[in-house]
Amino acid sequence: MSVNLLAIESSCDDTSASVLTNGAIRSNVIASQKVHSQYGGVVPELASRVHLTKIITVTEKALIGAGILKESLNAIAFTSGPGLIGSLMVGSSFAKSLSLALRVPLIGVHHMQAHVLSNFIDEPKPSFPFLCLTVSGGHTQIILVKDYSKMEVVGETKDDAAGEAFDKTASLIKLPYPGGPMIDKLAKSGNPKAFEFPEPNVPGLNFSFSGLKTSILFFIKENIKKNPRFIEERINDICASVQHRIVSILLRKLQKAADQFNIKEIAIAGGVSSNSGLREAAVEMSKRNGWHLYIPAAEYCTDNAAMIAITAYYKFLAGDFEPLSAAPSARMEWKRG
Ligand code: KG4
Ligand code: ZN
Repeated sequence: MSVNLLAIESSCDDTSASVLTNGAIRSNVIASQKVHSQYGGVVPELASRVHLTKIITVTEKALIGAGILKESLNAIAFTSGPGLIGSLMVGSSFAKSLSLALRVPLIGVHHMQAHVLSNFIDEPKPSFPFLCLTVSGGHTQIILVKDYSKMEVVGETKDDAAGEAFDKTASLIKLPYPGGPMIDKLAKSGNPKAFEFPEPNVPGLNFSFSGLKTSILFFIKENIKKNPRFIEERINDICASVQHRIVSILLRKLQKAADQFNIKEIAIAGGVSSNSGLREAAVEMSKRNGWHLYIPAAEYCTDNAAMIAITAYYKFLAGDFEPLSAAPSARMEWKRG
């Protein structure tokens, strides 16, 4: 029997639906919300309202794109957390209604587990155990992945996430939200060694980005005092130098984890893993260390329903279903593996 799944992702400001058949993604439709850029960050109440207006058309597009009738679906998957509670409620209510109407089971998916398993969408796939550096707008973690469902967080940020470090820097230099992709673009024609930003001294495999944010703030203020046009004149060098430091912080800890666990299977996931500087530096580091490196295609790095679908597929095979009564949760602890 073939397995057809529909997955819905609505944890933050992207409304996405994806259809999967037997482990292969057949469609992945993503509608990003533009409304937040004028506020410099995601406004939760607006996000849930926009999800409501988009969720049906996005789902229809995903079904049509896959050439599948909803009557052929074997289960409905959705992001059950972590994320913005209002946004999660829209996706979970929609998924529950469909599962009731179609009389098929429901599968709840942990958003961060799905980022990790986005590495199983395309070939080659990592083999267990592997380490995954998961870097997004809300999380920065090193995860020891023992199985599709057994994952242990072995390091994480004590304050800001790497994506926040990109976005907050972008707002300091007057770039629109979300600033990560724009910093990436501007950094391409800048000098990464133009300015030196400090690397925090955090024990173990943990991260901290709040000190970096403060030092960038003071650096910008000082330089604007001397030259009011400093940002405009040096924007490429600022972006390249900040990106260089964020990447070096991330990869130094990834290297430490790989050495500590003696693992050469290494993956990267999450929105920041689409950063070209991080991707290039990780490839270089892998060559030096003899790692097998896995990074998802760009459309599977930022929030998307295909990663929910692939995670749901492994849960479907394991018979791991969600009762209709289960509520989504803004904060979801990891099951320790
Ligand atoms: O995984 P994601 O789409 O959503 C969360 O689960 O948070 O990650 C969004 C984060 C944002 O902070 C965004 O600025 C960052 O990923 N991001 C990037 C790039 N593309 C997205 N950061 C740096 N370079 C990029 N190319
Ligand atoms: Zn995410």
